[in-house]
Amino acid sequence: MKKHILVIPGDGIGQEVVAVSKQVVEKIGQKFGHEFSFDYALIGHAAIEATGNPLPDETIEKSKASDAILFGAVGHPKYDNDPSAKVRPEQGLLGIRKALGLYANLRPIKLFDELLGASSIRPEVLKGADILFFRELTGDIYFGEKGRKDNGNTAYDIAQYSRYEVERIARKAFEAARTRSKKLCSVDKANVLETSRLWREVVQAMASEYPDVTVEHQFVDSMAMLLIKDPRRFDVVLTANLFGDILTDEASQIAGSMGMLASASIGDTVGLYEPIHGSAHDITGKGLANPLASILSAALMFEISFGLKAESEAIVSAVDGVLKAGFRTRDIADTHTGPEKTLGTEAMGAEVLRRI
Ligand code: IPM
Ligand code: MG
Repeated sequence: MKKHILVIPGDGIGQEVVAVSKQVVEKIGQKFGHEFSFDYALIGHAAIEATGNPLPDETIEKSKASDAILFGAVGHPKYDNDPSAKVRPEQGLLGIRKALGLYANLRPIKLFDELLGASSIRPEVLKGADILFFRELTGDIYFGEKGRKDNGNTAYDIAQYSRYEVERIARKAFEAARTRSKKLCSVDKANVLETSRLWREVVQAMASEYPDVTVEHQFVDSMAMLLIKDPRRFDVVLTANLFGDILTDEASQIAGSMGMLASASIGDTVGLYEPIHGSAHDITGKGLANPLASILSAALMFEISFGLKAESEAIVSAVDGVLKAGFRTRDIADTHTGPEKTLGTEAMGAEVLRRI
């Protein structure tokens, strides 16, 4: 198979982890006899520095010309404490999601058994947890009208959803539930928000098309509690953009670390694959970042965009093998991990490559 992959490393540790996952993609190409060509594009702070624009037109054009996108992270601390900044790295990420119509963000929360001890949640609560989040990605309060009034003393962000937007993400979640344990939990705040009432109305109406799927509705506050109390109760979880952003960071603790969580952003055309973690400037340049989230994102790319299941599984089992052998990056190390088994970004990548 011939595929053209656009690599967008972005900022901070995005550069470091994508360098490793790209090697993994190349290795899969050699092993399975595929031909992958690569191109690079800028986004976020890196793009602001080079062009003044967090999302240069060229990045969109190259994205549209690619078969899949391997994405790192965006962000820079200099903007975090400067609320008045007009141009921000995150605009690059939000902009590319919108421009490419990537309305469905799949975030699998899968706990590798070897990492049971890496979470702050008790192992007996966690063992066997396996959740697939569907986070809506191009609507909600993220993309509604925003601004200031009263001479800047009042601010607003409008949350908005159309029936069509809810339906298309819900359909993806229902279809996935069918192929898994046939349970779907839809998360909203329908006791307070009008967007959530529309959300619930749409999901309820669609449930009759999927009689084999058991649908449960949870309010987001209660869900935040239940996820930690009893993560095994959930299988496919469907939610809006902002709730999904927050709940998946929380859920990363079920998988041991943010450094383990991969994601796929898909729509009707090209797919974008990125770890859920950010640019982590506190550890940037130190070679400490966990590359597994980015590597597992590449596995999702093979499965979802290219339909290459064996290639995807080869990556996941290599990661499993590395963990079984006791190797850890700092973020997933536990009290039993000796210094000789605590690896940096490149060494961890090398262990994965060796096993593919
Ligand atoms: C994520 C991130 C982004 C988001 C930021 C960087 C804009 O937190 O992908 O979860 O809020 O969607
Ligand atoms: Mg987030």
